[in-house]
This record gives sequence, structure tokens and C-alpha cells, in this order.
Amino acid sequence: MLRARQAAAAVLSSVLFRNVALQEALAASTLLPGLDDRDRAFARALITTALRRRGQIDATIAEFLERPLPPAARHAWLLLLIGAAQLLFLRVPAYAAVSTSMELLIRGPGRSWRGLVNAVLRGIADRGATICQGQDAGRLNTPDWLWQSWLRAYGPATTARIADAHLREPVLDVCPKTDPEAWAAKLDGTVVLDGGIRVKASGDVAALAGFREGAWWVQDAAAQLPVRLLGDIDGRDVADLCAAPGGKTLQMAARGARVTAVDVSESRMRRLAANLARTRLAAEAVVADATSWESGRSFDAVLVDAPCTATGTIRRRPDILWQRTAGDFRALNPLQDRLLDRALQLVRPGGLVVYTVCSLEREEGENRVQGLLGRNQAAELVAVDAATEGLPDTFVTGDGYLRTLPCHLADAGGVDGFFAARVRRRE
Ligand SMILES: C[S@@+](CC[C@H](N)C(=O)[O-])C[C@H]1O[C@@H](n2cnc3c(N)ncnc32)[C@H](O)[C@@H]1O
Repeated sequence: MLRARQAAAAVLSSVLFRNVALQEALAASTLLPGLDDRDRAFARALITTALRRRGQIDATIAEFLERPLPPAARHAWLLLLIGAAQLLFLRVPAYAAVSTSMELLIRGPGRSWRGLVNAVLRGIADRGATICQGQDAGRLNTPDWLWQSWLRAYGPATTARIADAHLREPVLDVCPKTDPEAWAAKLDGTVVLDGGIRVKASGDVAALAGFREGAWWVQDAAAQLPVRLLGDIDGRDVADLCAAPGGKTLQMAARGARVTAVDVSESRMRRLAANLARTRLAAEAVVADATSWESGRSFDAVLVDAPCTATGTIRRRPDILWQRTAGDFRALNPLQDRLLDRALQLVRPGGLVVYTVCSLEREEGENRVQGLLGRNQAAELVAVDAATEGLPDTFVTGDGYLRTLPCHLADAGGVDGFFAARVRRRE
């Protein structure tokens, strides 16, 4: 199992030292494909556990150090992180967790720290579990800027529940083209939120029934909701302004809309094209900057699934905890505003714009829409009503916005955090 740990160390090094997104680091790994299924599953569990629990692990390591490790010791720290994740959260026997970390350390640039790493890991093997029992896991595993942002938006109790939700492995949700009940039965899953399917199986998604024939695609249950706010779009012209890799384009095409899918990223649009081909759904694909794209016509409805910090998807992408900063959403706000302004120009009078982000931050959600309503007289909010949309009351704010949180539906496995608002262009 040394190779599994080596693969995990390489991915974590890309994510934590070079800011590579977890999905990209996993896809680029040269070591993971060579592992058998069991070792690959272990390596992935080790990677996500180290990212989800990094704050707790760092606090535990600190108990055994007189002073913080210097930047030059970062490779030694990485092996402490990996060793401690196994000892504290993966129930790996102490001798295996310690000896494999030491072996990897000796082979790499952190070898001069071997005495310290050995002593700290042995200390954690002895006393780490007791230390962890006294920790506030949610708080320690959430960077300060996010904790403060959620406190302002949701208050202390909900903030604690959001942070706790991030500690759990997420469930697998898929969106069927048609017939959720029948596909739920075939996939041994359950229908969730009146349309998505929560699948019990784990492992290779492509091996599940219906994947190859394109009967469904992977999409969190909450990510399926913004498109529903557009109502009946059968036969309508809809523009999807930030479309790739296409989850919402597929949903709208499956609902009978004539979709024009626009995205600035050529590589992500190749994934959209592959998704359309697999599901045998049709959409016109345009690679363009949507803020300046000239369509030559107006649309019945426009969806803006804007680029954002994605803090609503930390359950699935725990790398976000350590890669984003408060400055990131401030940097994205002007683009989010321009996309909203452009959407309102592209929709016909009387048509609907749905603006959505997978972010928990009000600066990327509520504040952007309030800004639009303030500066553009043509925009009017069409409040979301939970009963009409068949949604739990907790999913809709008093202002009529859709706002899901990772702690919603906690007993059923949670959902990603999404914000969506529905705006009409006045006649
Ligand atoms: C949240 S993702 C979209 C996810 C997609 N709607 C789905 O459901 O699969 C945001 C997308 O916005 C795209 N994007 C960023 N800036 C853009 C711009 N100026 N014009 C068009 N697309 C842009 C990114 O390339 C990215 O694919």
C-alpha cells in the first residue's frame, strides 16, 4: 500500500502547494491509474480526509511541536498530514501509518526532518484520538474568512451545521433524462426533490446501468433546481450563458427547450459536446465571452450559472477550503454583474432570467441580484414560492430567493449549497 500513499502525497502536494484543483490533480495523476481498485479507493479516501480534516490535524500536530514548522519543512508537514489522517480518521494501524510516512519521507526532500516526524506521529498514535475528542471539528476545519462570512449570513447555529456537513463524504446524485421513478428502481436509488435520483452505489459511475446509453448524468440534487425555476420551457428558445460542462444545458434540452449553450472556455465546451453526444441531446454550442456575445436575436429565457468561488460544493471539493480567499469573490463580482446585465439584454420583454451560483456567499448571490434590481428599471424579481415549486420551505428565503445549504436534508445525505434568483424583464 506504499504506492497508494505515494499517489495520495503527489495529489495533495499539487493541491496544497501548487493550487491545482482537486479534480484536475486527480485526473493528472500518473500513479492512481496503476493502483488496483482497493488501493485507489484508499488513496482517494486519504486525499479527501486530509483535505476535509486538515484544520483538526494541524491543531493535533501543533500539540507535539514547540514552535510551528518553517516553510522549508513543507514536505515533512505533508507526510505528517497523511500519517495523521490515517491514524486519526481512517483506522489504519499505527505501525502501517507511521512506517509508510517515514519511508516516503526518507525518499524525498523532507528527510532531514525524520526524527521530528517520527516523534510526532508516534505521539499522535498514542494521544491523538483523545486530543481530537476535545476539538470543535467544524470550526477547526473551516478557514476564518469563511467562518466569519457564514456567521454574518446565517448565524452561529447554521454555520456550525454547514461546517459539520463538510465532514461527511457526499452522496451520488444523478439527473435522469426522463422517468425518475423507473431509473431510481434500476439504480437501486431514491427519487430526491421530485426529479433527481440519489444512488446508493459507489465506485465507477460509468459502470452503472444507463450511463453508456446516456439515460442520466451526474448532478447534485440542488444543482438541478435552478432550471426548474424557468417553468415550462418546452419548445422555447433558451440561452445558457455559462454552460460548460453542460449539466444545466442537458437538463433544459431534456425538457424540450431549444438551447444555445455559450461558454468562454474551449476545453470545457469539449466536455459539453461529449455530454450532449453521450445523452443524445441537442444544443447549439458557442464558444464566446457571454458579456460581449452578439446573438442576433432575443431569447424566451436566459440562464446565468455564473463563475463563483463554489463554496457551496465544499462537500465534493474540499480543496476549495484551502485554495480560496475572501479576495476571490470580490474579484468575480464585476464579471457576475456584467453577465447579469447581458442576460437582461438578451431576454425578450416579459421573459425570465435565472441567475445562479454554487456559492454560500451573499456577495455572489443576494447582493448581485439586489444590485441588478437597483440599477436596471427593466428588471423585476419574480419571487420563488416553495409550495408552488414543490420545494421544502427551508430552501426559500423570505426575499423569494432559492438558497440551499449543505446542511439541508442532512438525514438524507445533504445537498450542495446553491443560490438562485428569478428576474423578469418588464414588458
Ligand atoms: C459554474 S460553471 C458552469 C456550470 C454549468 N452551467 C453546468 O451546469 O455544468 C461557470 C462557467 O462559466 C464560464 N465562464 C466564465 N466566464 C465566462 C464568460 N465571460 N462568458 C461565458 N462563460 C464564462 C466558465 O468557463 C465555466 O464553465
